[in-house]
Amino acid sequence: MSSHDHVLNEITRQVQSEPDQDRAMAAAVATLKRRMPDYSWVGIYLLDGNELVLGPFEGTPSPHTRIPLGRGICGAAASEKATIIVDDVNADPRYLACSVETKSEIAVPIMAGADVLGEIDIDSDRHAAFGAADKTLLEAVAALLAARMSVRSR
Ligand code: SME
Repeated sequence: MSSHDHVLNEITRQVQSEPDQDRAMAAAVATLKRRMPDYSWVGIYLLDGNELVLGPFEGTPSPHTRIPLGRGICGAAASEKATIIVDDVNADPRYLACSVETKSEIAVPIMAGADVLGEIDIDSDRHAAFGAADKTLLEAVAALLAARMSVRSR
C-alpha cells in the first residue's frame, strides 16, 4: 500500500468516527499536514455566496481569508468545478500569494453533485510537488467531507 493510501485510510477513519463536521474537517487538515512532508500549508475554504471563506488550516496564517469565486487559483478551481495543479505558482497570473516560500499548489473542489461546497487548498515549498497520487488522495478526502457536509445540511 502506498503512503497516500495509508493517509487516506487514516482520514477515512477520522472523518467517519467524528460526529462534528468542523472537527472532522480540522482532523483531515491536521493529518494531511502531519503525514505529507511536501504539504507546507493545508486549508479548507467553504463557499459562502460568491466567496470562499477560510475554515480550518495548518501552516502560516494566510492573508486570503475570503476569496471571490473569480480570483486566485482557489477561485478558479471552484468556478471550473475541477482540481487545479500549478507546478510553478510564480508563473501563473491567477496566483494569490500566501507565502514567499510557496512554489506549487493544488486546489480540489468539495462537491455535492454539481454544487461546490468548498475546497481543499494545499501549498508546497517544493516546485511541482503535486501529482496524480495527490489528486486521487485529495479528491477522495473531498468526497468524504462532502458526504459529511450534505448530511448536516439535510
Ligand atoms: N494561493 C491561493 C490563495 C490561498 S493561499 O495560498 C492559502 C490562490 O491563488 O487562490
